Amino acid sequence: MNNFDSVRPIRWSREGLFLLDQRLLPGRYIELQCTSAVDVATAIRDMVVRGAPAIGIAAAYGVVLAVQNSYQENPDNWRDAIAKDINILAASRPTAVNLFWALKRMAALMVVDGEDPVPRFEAEAITIHDEDVTANHRMGELGAALISEPCNMLTHCNAGALATGGYGTALGVIRSAFAAGKLQQIYADETRPWLQGARLTAWELEQDGIPARLIADGAAAYLMQRGMIRWVVVGSDRIAANGDVANKIGTYGLAVNARHHGVGFMVVAPTSTIDMSVATGAEIPIEERTTDELLNFQGVAIAPQGGVAWNPVFDVTPAPLVGVLVTERGVVHAPNHEKLSHLMAGAG
Ligand code: MRU
Repeated sequence: MNNFDSVRPIRWSREGLFLLDQRLLPGRYIELQCTSAVDVATAIRDMVVRGAPAIGIAAAYGVVLAVQNSYQENPDNWRDAIAKDINILAASRPTAVNLFWALKRMAALMVVDGEDPVPRFEAEAITIHDEDVTANHRMGELGAALISEPCNMLTHCNAGALATGGYGTALGVIRSAFAAGKLQQIYADETRPWLQGARLTAWELEQDGIPARLIADGAAAYLMQRGMIRWVVVGSDRIAANGDVANKIGTYGLAVNARHHGVGFMVVAPTSTIDMSVATGAEIPIEERTTDELLNFQGVAIAPQGGVAWNPVFDVTPAPLVGVLVTERGVVHAPNHEKLSHLMAGAG
């Protein structure tokens, strides 16, 4: 393990769940306390916490809060209220499958008999959280091993510590590559419209002293054309059974450009992001957020008002454009249905 890992977006303590309010970064570092599943669902919907694995972890703690509250109110029939709270959490955001994966894992504890249910729900949420950090370190090592010599890389959105339990998926590879002396420069797309790259990726890398250079999204193809990028490294919100990859809007364009320019395209995601129940990316629900995110910035109009905008916030990169998928279970070159079935057969 290296020292380039100081940021934590989710904190569970005796006092409850604390989420670093990512809407306020990089200007202010403020944690928001959640005391109920509804609080957590609202925080996910409003982007206090975001990024596929982090959403799943937060939701798992949301179930713990639901069980705590329900058991306190009604120890004999505590289960009655939980299904409703799980549904509220499930409705918070549609694309990242880690949310549904984590809720399913937590819901499985409902059928276990015994006294006070809180400790077992709490232990499972902490395990989900810990497993994610461990997976990220493993993926960091595996991904960095694919990089043969010091080079420049490009990333999109924020697939870092802030988007996970810690260390990050794509940024985990970048952290490990930096620690191994294989990263010359990381270019971070600003990632319109929410600016995850500018507000979060640039900030979190700065915390750990990793040299990041921010670029406008439209500059990425130009950098590739000039031979300035060796690898594009991104995370994912859901990977279909055939290897199609849903990730932040703009990822598909990067993959097309990477292929055109002979640049490596690496997707880094834990197996909790792989959804074998959807055959192809066409079946992945793509979230559309308010057009306000495009028309205004921090309350200031930056386009004519009136709703003439469209804000899909994810896209799907077809599997044939994915050079390599890095998971905690191993590396899959040119992912397809057969290779992912094999990988997931061992994923438990
Ligand atoms: O809308 P967001 O900020 O939740 O989108 C996040 C992304 O698209 C990330 O790239 C993805 O979740 C992978 S995070 C490890």
